[in-house]
Amino acid sequence: MTDRTDQGFTAEEIDTSRPHPARMYDFYLGGRDNYEVDREAAQRVIDFLPDIIPAARANRDFLQRAVRYLTGTGIRQIIDIGTGIPTSPNTHEIAQAEAPDVRVAYVDNDPIVATHAGARLTGSGGNTGFFLADVRKPESILEHPTIGRLIDFDQPVALMLVAVLHFIKDEEDPAGIVAALRDALPAGSHLVLSHATADFHAASLPEVFKVYNKATATLNTRPYDEVVALFDGFELLDPGLVQVPLWRPATPPDPDEVKRIGFYGAVARKK
Ligand SMILES: C[S@@+](CC[C@H](N)C(=O)[O-])C[C@H]1O[C@@H](n2cnc3c(N)ncnc32)[C@H](O)[C@@H]1O
Repeated sequence: MTDRTDQGFTAEEIDTSRPHPARMYDFYLGGRDNYEVDREAAQRVIDFLPDIIPAARANRDFLQRAVRYLTGTGIRQIIDIGTGIPTSPNTHEIAQAEAPDVRVAYVDNDPIVATHAGARLTGSGGNTGFFLADVRKPESILEHPTIGRLIDFDQPVALMLVAVLHFIKDEEDPAGIVAALRDALPAGSHLVLSHATADFHAASLPEVFKVYNKATATLNTRPYDEVVALFDGFELLDPGLVQVPLWRPATPPDPDEVKRIGFYGAVARKK
């Protein structure tokens, strides 16, 4: 049983008239959980910015390496906000392959993610849960019963905000959102964060913004300094905030490939 049913939404509430970032991202990753409206929008982004495909894959690979690293350090509980449509291996699959007792609370604000979460994210013996909530309301996440069931705030937590905060506008205060979540975590907790940037693709971004402006969430890329500021109150682990293929790669990435990746990512520890 998943918390999805507790949300009480129906299939009719899933908006198929406008592109959804979660379904567009699924298309970039080669998934099938998307509609024509998403495929058209995603294809327009790809036409303007072909590098979105290696960037989405590199972001997903970063997520995997970060989760493996954290479970290796002994972290046994994860809050993954902006889960996305399931893409195997998912956070709990990666973590539980390392340590079967890891508990994972998945959070997303998109009902389409919830419909897939039931089958593919929450079937691991009560150690995982999914609920619909909006990161712009951190208290609605921290106070949710699923968090109460899965997360012990006396023990270190991995907080994952992977490829989600670029859907938050400046006026919605992304730094304040991270701070509110950070303040609930004990010392020794970790933040895994990645974020889209225009630092490497300034010329193509205006057209990409136009596509996302018609989607259910707008895209807000940020430069290095603004992304690094989101880690306030945390110590960045080596190698710091870098383009995601450069975060502890298994083998050194091709520099020509790295140039194509407009995502920064880092893992940091709460002081
Ligand atoms: C690009 S996907 C990232 C998925 C996954 N974290 C990854 O990096 O592979 C972004 C996800 O964030 C979700 N999202 C966007 N705005 C959100 C918000 N305000 N609150 C919670 N989730 C949000 C979207 O629905 C989507 O599933």
